[in-house]
Amino acid sequence: MRGKVYIVGAGPGNFELLTLKAYRILNEADVILYDRLVGEEIESYIKSLRDKEVIYVGKERGEKGERRQQEINRLMKKYASEGKVVVRLKGGDPGVFGRLAEEMEFLFQNNIPFEVVPGVSSVNAAPVYSNIPLTHPEAGFGFLVVSGRDTRRLSELAKSGTLVVLMGGCTAKEVASNLMESGINPETEVAVIERGSFEDQRVTFSTVRGLTELENDFTSPALIVVGGVVKLAKKYSRLIGLDKIRDRKI
Ligand SMILES: C[S@@+](CC[C@H](N)C(=O)[O-])C[C@H]1O[C@@H](n2cnc3c(N)ncnc32)[C@H](O)[C@@H]1O
Repeated sequence: MRGKVYIVGAGPGNFELLTLKAYRILNEADVILYDRLVGEEIESYIKSLRDKEVIYVGKERGEKGERRQQEINRLMKKYASEGKVVVRLKGGDPGVFGRLAEEMEFLFQNNIPFEVVPGVSSVNAAPVYSNIPLTHPEAGFGFLVVSGRDTRRLSELAKSGTLVVLMGGCTAKEVASNLMESGINPETEVAVIERGSFEDQRVTFSTVRGLTELENDFTSPALIVVGGVVKLAKKYSRLIGLDKIRDRKI
């Protein structure tokens, strides 16, 4: 008998942002393979479930992604061919910088039945938890999500919409310099959101230029929102709790 793999988005880390479907499938699973970004609360929860194998497969710092991915593929295949229900649990939404295509291709090639369950992405959750709408009739006509590892080729797109940079928290200075070189107005507002949706979420407001002058001391995971919509958040910021906000406009 063949098993099945569910590729499930765990949301941005806050337990209540786990979907009902993800919650049900976690409870039905035999094996859970989970990533670093699922968050501490969800990690404790899955570890507390009975009669399941719960295996951490997150990447360690500096580790090559390829090797880790091969190991994850091996585990998915092993357990599915034993007839087990496997949950491959990822942070946020599996379709956003989550190697979804590679894992689906592997499962398809190996004839392993699978289903993808979307999750709440940090792209949506972290800005909203910081009172930042990603679109606005005047301040942001659309939004663009990119990886902080490749911000040199942006220019026109970033000029009048909202830009969300994932994986740029520890290289925020370089991201900001690349944006200025790409022609973005240096006075454009930015918000760096650390641990979005967690209890200890923190938001730092600055400008693109200001970000080039700040220390890269942001706690992981962090994302950067760039654009006029960030101004709106400041208006509501006392509702978030001032202790969680840093205004670092330079
Ligand atoms: C490899 S990407 C995975 C994104 C994930 N699939 C999603 O939809 O959120 C990891 C990056 O997502 C961002 N991220 C994930 N969770 C976050 C959170 N709770 N708060 C802020 N940024 C987060 C960070 O930029 C982090 O470096």
